Amino acid sequence: MAITSKNKTPQATPGDLLVIGSMNMDLSIKTRRMPRLGETLLGGTFNQNAGGKGANQAIAAHILFPKVSLCAGIGKDSMGDEYMKYLKELGVDTSLIKVFDNAHTGVAIITVVKEGENIITVAPGANLMLSPDDLKNVDFKKYTHVAFQLENTLETVSAGLNIAKSCNCTTILKASPACLLPDEILNNIDIIVANEIEIMQIMRGFTDMKKAAAALLDKGIKNVIITLGARGCLLISGKIEKRYPAHSVRPIDTVGAGDCFTGSFMAGLKIYGDIDMAIKMANAAAALSVTKNGAQSFASLDNVLKKMKG
Ligand code: RIB
Repeated sequence: MAITSKNKTPQATPGDLLVIGSMNMDLSIKTRRMPRLGETLLGGTFNQNAGGKGANQAIAAHILFPKVSLCAGIGKDSMGDEYMKYLKELGVDTSLIKVFDNAHTGVAIITVVKEGENIITVAPGANLMLSPDDLKNVDFKKYTHVAFQLENTLETVSAGLNIAKSCNCTTILKASPACLLPDEILNNIDIIVANEIEIMQIMRGFTDMKKAAAALLDKGIKNVIITLGARGCLLISGKIEKRYPAHSVRPIDTVGAGDCFTGSFMAGLKIYGDIDMAIKMANAAAALSVTKNGAQSFASLDNVLKKMKG
């Protein structure tokens, strides 16, 4: 990817990574505990940070493997302008980001308690405007791996997965925010990343995460990765079931940890060509990300490599 100047977006070249997903402005307040329904609670620090599961994944990947394009939708407003400027400064390819003048940039209202746990409410705005038609501008043949989440419409996710698969890209879905997924989506996923709640919400009738994972493998998904927070993650693939313990860290803010895991995992797959190493890279990056505030407080490649060594 050739980076020309701070104001010009770099253009994708063959072999790059693509994220199709959401961009939100995250408005977050730290509190000592979660407010109750009907209560006004005086919180502490306020932060406005770039977020959205798609952009979080794209930037996490870009920090480790700086050849990433983001395809997303934003509104014609100051939050969208600010976000675009920031992505260009980072060197992410923004040429596939569409500006909609009839919608606002996505916003997430986030409450973070002192232990790092959080509650997030999203007003998706322009994220829901991104349509299958907008994907016609994407040259999928340039990309080896394409990652998705579920903050766009299912039609757009489904269309993207379908084209990505037909162009032989490896497809990754972070099933968040989770919902029932139709077969036309499930049939085009190579690797699914979900936490232990999300994995049981994708298909009807599951109360056991391993049974849900087995059902996804039966659908043709090759690898299921279940993230388990402070307990690490689990890879279920064919007859393989492998547990990866989490690195021990003191969490300050866990917002975006799953996105960091997924984006870093995609970069790891590209760098190592190996799922085991990619998970180790994702595990290390996600552990480091929760030690700082904000959804995009990602560690450098050097620090992730050091963490992977133990
Ligand atoms: O996964 C964390 C993200 O979820 C936040 O950045 C917020 O924008 C919501 O999309």
